[in-house]
Order: sequence, then structure tokens, then C-alpha cells
Amino acid sequence: MKAAVPRAGQPQPAAPRPRRDKGPGATAARTPRVTLDGKVALVTGAGKRVGRAIALALAEAGARVGVHYHRSAAEARETIRAIRAAGGDAHSFRADLSCVGEPMRLVSDVATHFGRLDVLVNSAASMRRTPLARVRERDWDEVFALNLRAPFFCSMAAVRAMGRRGGAIVNISDHMGFESWPDFVPHGVSKSAVAAMTRALAAALAPRIRVNAVAPGFVLAPEGYSAAKRRAFARATPLRRIGTPRDVAAAVVYLATAPYVTGEVHFVDGGRHATG
Ligand SMILES: NC(=O)c1ccc[n+]([C@@H]2O[C@H](COP(=O)([O-])OP(=O)(O)OC[C@H]3O[C@@H](n4cnc5c(N)ncnc54)[C@H](OP(=O)(O)O)[C@@H]3O)[C@@H](O)[C@H]2O)c1
Repeated sequence: MKAAVPRAGQPQPAAPRPRRDKGPGATAARTPRVTLDGKVALVTGAGKRVGRAIALALAEAGARVGVHYHRSAAEARETIRAIRAAGGDAHSFRADLSCVGEPMRLVSDVATHFGRLDVLVNSAASMRRTPLARVRERDWDEVFALNLRAPFFCSMAAVRAMGRRGGAIVNISDHMGFESWPDFVPHGVSKSAVAAMTRALAAALAPRIRVNAVAPGFVLAPEGYSAAKRRAFARATPLRRIGTPRDVAAAVVYLATAPYVTGEVHFVDGGRHATG
């Protein structure tokens, strides 16, 4: 049947209105803009390498940044200089996070300095080589104190500092926590536990606080890592390259701002985890 064509002068039928889905899966009208304007972030181990890239990326997204360091005072000053040069705001805080009480003190100092805390990134860690036959109990304790206990107590202090406003925690795990590396068993187990802790805290702290993790692949070689080993690692990676600190930082910014994501362990490893 032909549709009736309205004659000139006759009232035109109203154009059909777009239907609004009001069901439980209704989508927002616009994709929210990624911004951390007005927010405060603390990044542990932010003086150099991956932690520095994360601090710079969060500052670029608008956050004021607490730059934590332990031994790298000059490098932390350089991170702050770079953030300020780009128009951001940052301040440095020193703490030995392997000591009891220091994680809580650090977070409380940052929240007091900036007057709030919205994002915590637990990046400081050690990657100690401990060949299986030579692992000492002391190695185990020291690795776990820094890689697992410190992120847990930083997170507990952050929960207090974030208060009713809530916030986001991003832990840095490691692909080694999901593969078998006989020379790095305490490290791998500690990073696998970081993923387990992420999921446990995500469930416990929702809906006020989101907790996620990034599990990077190889992004920066430890000292003394040969060019041949780097090439071999890249060949064994589906995306055929070693990652960069910026790859990790971009994932951290995403998880810090993704309003409907919690309990996620997000691999940034060029696809290695998909081959196991
Ligand atoms: N690099 C990679 O390819 C890679 C791959 C997978 C996962 N990751 C993870 O990504 C994160 C950063 O990696 P990265 O290679 O940049 O690490 P890194 O070079 O080993 O640096 C780690 C940071 O931890 C801090 N730290 C060490 N001991 C500390 C202590 N007792 N108290 C407080 N802070 C301490 C250091 O601070 P100071 O220098 O100020 O002492 C340093 O900034 C780590 O969690 C790591 O496991 C890295």
C-alpha cells in the first residue's frame, strides 16, 4: 500500500521520535569524557620507569599527583618537574614501603597534603631473581612485604582517605604471576596474589571503590638484559614487540576512569597470556 502524500497546506504528520530505551540496560546518551580534573592520585614507585610513566599519564588526564619514591629522590624530582612543565601539579613523598606502618603513613600524608585522595596506583615492587634451590626465607618475606603487603595496606589507608566520595585503586601485577619462571618463584607468586587481592577487594569495596589490576608483559628490561634476549622475547609475543611504559600507563588511566569496571585483571602483554 502506498503511503499518503500530504498536500501543501495540510498539517504534516509528526516525525517519529527516537525511542528511548528505559530498561535496565539503557545506555547513557554520551560516552563520558575521560578526565581526572580535580582528582588526586598517588602512584607508588613513581620516580622512574613504569611508575613515572603512570604518574605522567594521570597528570595528563588532569589529576594532581602524589609521586612516591624510596631511594630515587633525584628521579622523583625529575618526574615532578616534567608534570609541572606540562601545567600539572605534583608533590613527592618518601617511604620505605617494606616497613610496617609506612604504607599507611604514606597514604595519609598524601591525603593530608592535597586534601583528598581519589586514585591509588600500587606500582612499587621488586623483581628479585631467586633461583629455586637458593630461595631463602628472608627473600620470601622481603618480596611479599613490598609486592603484596604494602599494596594491601596502602589500599586500606586509601579506603579511609577516599571516604564516602569513593575512588579507584589500580594494582600493578605482572605476566610472571601467570607463567612459570623457576628463577622468580616468590616474585611470580606475589604478583599472582596481587591479582587475587584485586578481585577480593573489588567485591568487598564495591560500590564505593573500584579495584582493578594491570598485568604488564615485558615493558622495560631489568639491568643486564641482553639485546638477544629482548629480541627472543619479542618473537615469542603475538604482537611481536616488547611493550612500553606508556602502554601500561594508558591501561591504568582507563581503569582509573572506567565507571563500570571492577575486579578486572587487564593484561598489557602483547597477547602472551592468550598463548598459554
Ligand atoms: N618493567 C617491566 O617490564 C614490568 C613487567 C611486568 C610488571 N612490571 C611491574 O610494573 C611495576 C613497575 O615496574 P618497573 O620495572 O618500573 O619497576 P622497578 O624499576 O623495579 O621500580 C620499582 C619501584 O619500586 C620502588 N621500590 C623498591 N623498593 C622499595 C621500597 N622498599 N619501598 C618503596 N618503594 C620501593 C622503587 O623506588 P625507588 O627507585 O625510589 O627506590 C622503584 O621506583 C612493578 O610493580 C613491576 O612488578 C614491570
